[in-house]
Amino acid sequence: MLLPSFSLKGKVACITGAGRGIGRALAIGFAEAGADVGLMSRTEKDLLEVAAVIEEKGQKAYILPGDVTKKEDIDSAINTLHQQAGTIDILVNNAGINIRTPAFHVTEAEWDTIMQTNIKSAFMVSQAAGTVMKGKGEGGRIINISSVAGHTALRTGVVYASAKAAMIQMTKVLAFEWGVHKIQVNSIGPWYFETPLTKELLSNSEYVDEILSVTPLKRIGRLPELVGPAVFLASDAASYITGQTLFVDGGMTIHGF
Ligand SMILES: NC(=O)c1ccc[n+]([C@@H]2O[C@H](COP(=O)([O-])OP(=O)(O)OC[C@H]3O[C@@H](n4cnc5c(N)ncnc54)[C@H](OP(=O)(O)O)[C@@H]3O)[C@@H](O)[C@H]2O)c1
Repeated sequence: MLLPSFSLKGKVACITGAGRGIGRALAIGFAEAGADVGLMSRTEKDLLEVAAVIEEKGQKAYILPGDVTKKEDIDSAINTLHQQAGTIDILVNNAGINIRTPAFHVTEAEWDTIMQTNIKSAFMVSQAAGTVMKGKGEGGRIINISSVAGHTALRTGVVYASAKAAMIQMTKVLAFEWGVHKIQVNSIGPWYFETPLTKELLSNSEYVDEILSVTPLKRIGRLPELVGPAVFLASDAASYITGQTLFVDGGMTIHGF
């Protein structure tokens, strides 16, 4: 048998920003692949809804309410999951925000809020979960949800783009440092997917036409189309892949004209 397993059976995952949008889809998809899932975000009622879906599928869900910009919340969430589930095998750094202010008008407070939420928190959560992965001796997987905006210049705002570019580079450096501990670190760079973050933008048909004009597959992504790549990167099927960013973008990043 040469086909490796794509199953996450017996694995424990932690997903930040799991209450809605991409994080919710990944949490439910990971449960469908056999994982138990720790769900972190600030809105407990969202987490309870996602947990109910996961439990209906026969997997365990752990509610980890907290703010990823607060170190004490990160430590509490990771310790709770470690104690209750016994281990952490997979971390998905997904929590993120955007404020699309033109560069001349970005305030210091906006810069700090986006950077703290989108990149500093991903490092701090990786350090906390990575310590658990290192300690058990079997390593683990970290998947960072970056963006096409971290790779190419777009009208998403300079702060968001800078944070996502940093996340792509952080992915490489953590993969380089932590490979020795069997911790594989990869990133997924989505193009547009409809979530509460993008709903308003995607209701503007002129903007959507502009997006589709640079998207070879000529459509917006569907959330299950992020679940497959994330499950793959978390599974045995990706056992020799680390430090990479997989763009899930309908081909958006391939052209140069
Ligand atoms: N949607 C897209 O087209 C797209 C494209 C490229 C990249 N991305 C990236 O994908 C990730 C998810 O985006 P999305 O579209 O699913 O966004 P979303 O629908 O707004 O969901 C974001 C999630 O992150 C959580 N979150 C935000 N700030 C947090 C904080 N300080 N502490 C804890 N949790 C926090 C939110 O919960 P609470 O507010 O309740 O805490 C929510 O559950 C983001 O990193 C985004 O940059 C999205």
